[in-house]
Amino acid sequence: MSFLAGHSHPAMVVQCRGIGGFSSMALSAPCLSPVRMLAQEERGVPFQVGPAFYRRQSSLARDLGILLAALHRQQTGQLRVLDVMSGCGVRSVRYLLQARADFVWANDACNELMEILALNLSQAQKAATEDFEAREAELERWRISGEDANKLLLGCAVRREYYDLIDVDSFGSDTLCLGPALAAVKHGGLVYLTSTDGFSAGGHRPHNALASYGGFVNPTPYANEIGLRMLIGGAVREAATRNMKIVPVFSNYSYHGPVFRTMLRVEPGKWLRNRQGIA
Ligand SMILES: C[S@@+](CC[C@H](N)C(=O)[O-])C[C@H]1O[C@@H](n2cnc3c(N)ncnc32)[C@H](O)[C@@H]1O
Repeated sequence: MSFLAGHSHPAMVVQCRGIGGFSSMALSAPCLSPVRMLAQEERGVPFQVGPAFYRRQSSLARDLGILLAALHRQQTGQLRVLDVMSGCGVRSVRYLLQARADFVWANDACNELMEILALNLSQAQKAATEDFEAREAELERWRISGEDANKLLLGCAVRREYYDLIDVDSFGSDTLCLGPALAAVKHGGLVYLTSTDGFSAGGHRPHNALASYGGFVNPTPYANEIGLRMLIGGAVREAATRNMKIVPVFSNYSYHGPVFRTMLRVEPGKWLRNRQGIA
C-alpha cells in the first residue's frame, strides 16, 4: 500500500497507488481511541500518536537526527529522507518541518498506521505551506506506505532512487535492513541506525551478536560503549562488502530500552586503505 500527498483536503483524501496506477482514496474519519488521538507536541511540532509505538524519551535521538539532516541540507542544498520504520511519523514530520526536507517518505509495515501517518504528514505539509515560500509549498513533499522496510529499500535501489538520509528505527537486533539501506543511500548520504539489543551488548548473547553484527561480544564493564561499537562494526562490515566506507558522525546511548543509535555517513571507497570506518 502506498499513498502520495493529496492537495484538496490532504488529511482525508490521498492518492492510492495500486497495481493499476494511482487513484484517489478517501480515508474514513479517525477511528482511533480518543486518548491516543490527543494532540501531542515535540519541540513545538504538533502530531498525534494514534495506535503507534511512540516514546517521548527518544526525543533527544530525534533531535540529533533532525540536526544532522538540517546540516546536510545546508551543506548540500538538498534533503530527501526515507523513514522506513516511522511509527506515527513524528520524525518524518520533524524532518519535513524542522530540517526543511525537500521530500520525506514515511513507511511502516503496520497498515493500521496509514491513517495517522496521512493525518500527521498532511498537517505538517499545511504548516510548511504557511512557513515556506509559495513555490516550495506547491511541491509534493511527502509520501506514506505500508511496506516491509527491506522490500521498500531494495525497490528504491533497483530503481536507482537514492536518498540523502535513511532512518531505520528498528527494534532489537534486527540488522536485515543494513545492506538494503546502504544500497539506497546516496554517496555522501546518511544512515541513522538503531539497536535495542542490550543482551548482545552486555555479552549475554554472543552468538546472537555474531549473527547480527559480526562480532562475538563477551561481558564487559563497558557494555554501553560496546553496544554502539557493535552496531557501527556491523555497518562497517556490510559497507565493506559493497566497496563503501562508513564515517560515524555521532552515536548515542539511552538507558531506556536500552537504545543504541548511530548516524553514519556513507562514502564510496575502500575503508581499509585509510583506516576510516573502523569502529
Ligand atoms: C521503534 S518503532 C518506530 C518509532 C518511530 N520511528 C518514532 O520515532 O517514534 C518501530 C516501528 O517499525 C515498524 N516495523 C517493524 N518491522 C518493520 C519492517 N520490517 N518494515 C517496516 N516497518 C517495520 C513497527 O510497526 C514500528 O512502528
